Order: sequence, then structure tokens, then C-alpha cells
Amino acid sequence: MKVTVVGAGAVGATTADNIARKQIVDEVVLLDIKQGVAEGKAMDLMQTASLEGFDTTIIGSTNDYTKTAKSDVVVITSGLPRKPGMTREELIGINAGIVRDVVTKILTHSPKAILLIVSNPMDTMTYLAYQVAQEMGVNKKRIIGMGGSLDSSRFRYYLSQATGFAQSDIHGQVIGGHGDTTMIPLTRLATVNSIPVSRFLSKEVLEKVAADTMVGGATLTGLLGTSAWYAPGIASCAVVEAIVRDEKKVIPSSVYLNGEYGQKDICMGVPVVIGRNGWEKIINIRLNQEEQAAFAKSADAVRNMNNVLAT
Ligand code: NAI
Repeated sequence: MKVTVVGAGAVGATTADNIARKQIVDEVVLLDIKQGVAEGKAMDLMQTASLEGFDTTIIGSTNDYTKTAKSDVVVITSGLPRKPGMTREELIGINAGIVRDVVTKILTHSPKAILLIVSNPMDTMTYLAYQVAQEMGVNKKRIIGMGGSLDSSRFRYYLSQATGFAQSDIHGQVIGGHGDTTMIPLTRLATVNSIPVSRFLSKEVLEKVAADTMVGGATLTGLLGTSAWYAPGIASCAVVEAIVRDEKKVIPSSVYLNGEYGQKDICMGVPVVIGRNGWEKIINIRLNQEEQAAFAKSADAVRNMNNVLAT
């Protein structure tokens, strides 16, 4: 199996590193527009192989898409990351041009690939990728936006910090848009080994956990001066792994909605079953009134951003 990662920056290179170390595919192609960067990072990563004990081949490419041909999965991380104080939405203009161009070239060389969109603002970039894919006759189930995988792991981190229980015992997911004000951490459904977290945390603490989760990315951007990469890299790898191993894992991801969760013609985070064919099925959680209202509000914000694409 072959995976291409477009964008050999912080998130792209970390994703490639995780995919190689887990040995889930034979070949990873790392592509970047900046001369030599992808080749350099690929070589650096290959020089970890004997120490890490992996046999995956990593190839670098400066914008040569022929090297990406016949990829099974393509992770798209090309674009600008956030700087402190910036919202994901402010990246739209620049990243839309990049994502449109990259998706077109990728699908030309790998018409059967499943695309995982990471570039921000992710839901809008996923919608854009969906539109390009439609023009090229690609099934919507092969277009997946990565946000819920990361946001849910941040949610589990904050829940673990608040409860004192191990992160691996904590289950919870974040749906909605992948933005500071649009994501919806589902506190009502989060559990510690099937026990509702509300048994351990007061309403006020749970609200703080949700608020911290929503600005989890911004908190890191403030500390780092740019956006994070370790968690985004492994969160992207987790989705790739679910695809290539046909795991049928339920991972909240941004997918094209056609009436599900009361929304149409939009890509947003909902729990989906991920396997060899991309997102195979949307899981319909019965949201309460408050959650439904939050989802509708989140959709309005994502839709406003999508409208910028048309201008
Ligand atoms: P980075 O700046 O480290 O890397 C981006 C790379 O893309 C650069 O190496 C750049 O040369 C390359 N690039 C730009 N235009 C290109 C093109 N046309 N073709 C190929 N490569 C191109 O940025 P970082 O930190 O890796 O973030 C990448 C993107 O991922 C950003 O938009 C960021 O906001 C987003 N992100 C999304 C997350 C999510 O959960 N969906 C989480 C973290 C970051």
C-alpha cells in the first residue's frame, strides 16, 4: 500500500513519521512545493529506520506528482498554519488556492485514492475537496476531513486531567465544526470505562473541560508561536491506519452531509465508520435539544465560511 502526504511541514512530516513507524504501508511519498524540503525530511526519516526498526520506504518529492501515482490514501497538509491570535478561518483565501490545486493534481495521478484533508479551515477545505472530487467523478465517501480525531484526543486529555483517570480509560468525542467556537465536545456522552464522567465532575468543571478543548489548538499556538504537530500528526495517522487496515473504527470526521444531523450540502464533523472504502457510514447520535442547537449554530458558521469560497 502507498500513502502520499502533501506538505512536508510540521504536521505532514510528523504524519509520515508515525505512518512509517507503525509500518502500516510499504511506501510513503512526502511532497512539498519548497525545493528540497520533502527530499530532506524523507532522507532524515529514512535514517531513523534502523533505529526504529521499520522497513517502510519514504520518498521525498519537490512538487513531482508522478511520484505520488497510484496512492491508496493521500493526506493533504499543504498550506499555512495559524500564527498566535489568528483563527483557522483567516487562512481560507491562501489555503483554498493551494488545496484546490493539490486535490486536482492528486486525483489526476491517483484517481482511486482516499483523501484526508488536514489543511485549515478544515471543514471548508474538505468541502472544497469534495467539490473538486465531484467534478472529477470521485465518490464523496473518499473525501474525509481530519479534525474530530484530534479534537477528541484533546477532549480526552482535558477529561483525564480533570478526573485523574488514565486517558486510555476515557472515551469521548467532539463533533461539529473544527473551529474554536464551532466544535462540540459531547460532555453528556463522555465516559470513564462506560461510567458517565458527570459522576466524577461537576457541571462547572465539565463546562471548563469543554471550553479548554475548544481552544485547545489556540492554547498551543499561543505557547509555540505556530500550530501544534505531534497530536495532529498522530491523529492523521490514526485515520490513515483505520483506512489501510480496514478497521471500521468510529472516528468523528468531517464528511459531506446530505440531510444527516439536519444539515445538507456541507462538510462537518460527525461520527463515521472508517474503513478501506473511506467513510463508510455516518453514525446518528440522538442529540438532545441543546446539542442540536449547538450543531445548527456550528453549521451556520461553517456555511458562512464556505460562502467565502464562492466570492
Ligand atoms: P507548515 O507550514 O509547517 O507546513 C506546510 C507545508 O505546506 C510547508 O512545508 C509548505 O511548503 C507546504 N506547501 C505550501 N503550499 C504547497 C503546495 N501548493 N504544494 C505542496 N506543498 C505546499 O504547516 P503545518 O503546521 O504542517 O500545518 C499545515 C496545515 O495543517 C495548516 O493549514 C494548519 O492550519 C493545518 N492543521 C490542521 C489541523 C487539523 O486538525 N485539521 C491540526 C494542525 C494543523
